[in-house]
Amino acid sequence: MPTVLVTGGAGFIGANFILLARNKQWFNVANLDKLTYASNLENLAQLQNDLNYHFVRGDIGNLELVSYLLEQYQPNAIINFAAESHVDRSILSPQDFIQTNVLGTFQLLEASRFYWEKLSSQRQQKFRFLHVSTDEVYGSLNSKDPAFREETAYAPNSPYAASKAASDHFVRAYYHTYGLPTLTTNCSNNYGPRQFPEKLIPLTILNALDDKPLPIYGDGQNIRDWLYVIDHCEAIYLVLQQGKIGETYNIGGLNEQANLDVVEKICAILDELVPKSDFSYSSLITFVKDRPGHDRRYAIDCSKISRDLGWQPQENFDSGLFKTIQWYLNNSDWVKKVRSQAYENWLKQNYETRNN
Ligand code: NAD
Ligand code: DAU
Repeated sequence: MPTVLVTGGAGFIGANFILLARNKQWFNVANLDKLTYASNLENLAQLQNDLNYHFVRGDIGNLELVSYLLEQYQPNAIINFAAESHVDRSILSPQDFIQTNVLGTFQLLEASRFYWEKLSSQRQQKFRFLHVSTDEVYGSLNSKDPAFREETAYAPNSPYAASKAASDHFVRAYYHTYGLPTLTTNCSNNYGPRQFPEKLIPLTILNALDDKPLPIYGDGQNIRDWLYVIDHCEAIYLVLQQGKIGETYNIGGLNEQANLDVVEKICAILDELVPKSDFSYSSLITFVKDRPGHDRRYAIDCSKISRDLGWQPQENFDSGLFKTIQWYLNNSDWVKKVRSQAYENWLKQNYETRNN
């Protein structure tokens, strides 16, 4: 079986992707991850006896290390999930985002190019560099605007989005300039098991279980297009197998939801699964100061991947949210471990100044 070098595979989407890839025997996996605060090796604990899965701790920006790993594992593809991924953190400390998302991706591309140039022409043709990106590069939509298409002009508004946009441009340039066989996916908001609880859905679930306020930025009417993480992983695999090199593919959930509605749905499910005798979880909802530069609406037109590759999201939002909440309820050890002092410090830093 061929090997794929996955970067950032100890994070939310990367870990779900690796578990699926090994479970379905898609390929052998070498996982390169720096193990930042957002990672969790517990996510991959079930692979500890899997001889076709290898973990290496390291930085995608370390050219020497990545070059060594490419020589050692001789992968047929690289899938780049590694990134700083949280918008609020990018507002408070943008530097880390430039370091990993821009410079790190650049070094990863350099190492890939040097490796790819030395492959036989048969292996060169098979090789793929798949870059996992976001819909946030397209900026913000008004309520009546059409959804983002692959041709939509880039207009990133947060340091996170700007850093991902820059990385997408480098990936594009490496295809056009050097012929590196690249693919880029731009996906909407993911949710599901194993997401670090700084993002809206897991933060709401865990705060609610602790009877803590459920912070809603601004008026709660910002819209995101939610996709279950496994649907995203299946789409990435399909693009890897059948995507046209040099192209980009939008991936979305066809599921636009206002933030307040998402939080109310979570509360309703918790009312059913872990009812409180004296109150509904929705009474914890608290409107707080808005995120600076908060994009109003994201919506993805995923007709290209649907038409060309036959992909459609399979999970519906109600059942996906229910499964996600059940996962957090059933994995209290995982939850305990991610609630480190550093996590508590983050909550303080991000939310204490937000009280309206
Ligand atoms: P995450 O923050 O949960 O995980 C990121 C992983 O990358 C972590 O394991 C971290 O340790 C690792 N990492 C960070 N810097 C690294 C470096 N320099 N070298 C090696 N590893 C490093 O992120 P996620 O939500 O799983 O997102 C994965 C990718 O998908 C990101 O590129 C993100 O931009 C993109 N994306 C995320 C979403 C979403 O809703 N979460 C949607 C669309 C696209
Ligand atoms: O669109 C794809 C992007 O989705 C990914 O590229 C990012 O990596 C991922 O983090 C996510 O970005 P968002 O900023 O949309 O996700 P987040 O969960 O942080 O916020 C979702 C919405 O909820 C957003 O409008 C802000 C709002 N929000 C978020 C938090 C954490 C709140 O109202 N309260 C909160 O406490």
